[in-house]
Amino acid sequence: MGEARADLARNRAVWALVNAAFTDQDADRAWAAEELSWGLFGVPERDLGVLGDVGGLGVVELGCGTAYLSAQLARQGARPVGVDLTPAQLATAARCQRRFGLMFPLVQADAEHVPLADGSFDLVVSEYGASVWCDPDRWVAEAARLLRRGGRLVFLTNSVLATLCVPEQEGFAGERLLRPQRGLRRVAWPGGGVEFHPSHGDWIRILRANGFVVDALHELYAPADGETHQYYGIATAGWATQWPVEDLWAAHLTR
Ligand SMILES: C[S@@+](CC[C@H](N)C(=O)[O-])C[C@H]1O[C@@H](n2cnc3c(N)ncnc32)[C@H](O)[C@@H]1O
Repeated sequence: MGEARADLARNRAVWALVNAAFTDQDADRAWAAEELSWGLFGVPERDLGVLGDVGGLGVVELGCGTAYLSAQLARQGARPVGVDLTPAQLATAARCQRRFGLMFPLVQADAEHVPLADGSFDLVVSEYGASVWCDPDRWVAEAARLLRRGGRLVFLTNSVLATLCVPEQEGFAGERLLRPQRGLRRVAWPGGGVEFHPSHGDWIRILRANGFVVDALHELYAPADGETHQYYGIATAGWATQWPVEDLWAAHLTR
């Protein structure tokens, strides 16, 4: 429990810094985007069809950050609630809500312990939120608790391969494996935050243990004309056109 509390404090501090350095200034652009897209290279949802029609759905976004994904879902008629650990990120989300005239609840909480009722949502989403920054056994159990029977879980995270190939300090993924996959699950980056990167087999075990059935695993590449992200130094567009840079999982709850 001591380690979990320390991870939480460390990640909150990291995201306050990232907010000041990048996400606050980038949020207006992200909120203004004309369509919903996924990940570093903006793969359009219309090409993937992972979410389907979200009109009327109660959605909770775990680790919503500046909440631009929730904003897109609200524009499509969903009723999102954004949950995030970091006050600075939620302050940016609230600023954008006022600027774009799109209001929905924002809750400051740890996505491993969400103060919302059991069975109260149709869809749980996470885009580089709880899916990266929370212990997978704990946040997936929370997602199952929050969903009604048959509810869906959609989450995006770094690909296992990219995580194996990124340098420890800074820089883009290369063409060599830089660390063992065994033991990769919890990664404390020197000078950075604590992330969780289960293998595909681990994700399937965790999802099944919490009553989910996997519907799809989309391995995302950069489009041919993709541009390297200006801030997140994970993989160049050149790398990500050859290897999957992100994993987008979709599952539904059977109980
Ligand atoms: C990549 S950002 C959010 C992604 C969002 N789509 C965006 O870019 O604005 C990751 C977020 O996870 C949040 N986070 C980290 N640990 C968390 C936790 N234990 N519970 C809830 N949110 C957490 C951070 O505060 C941060 O806002």
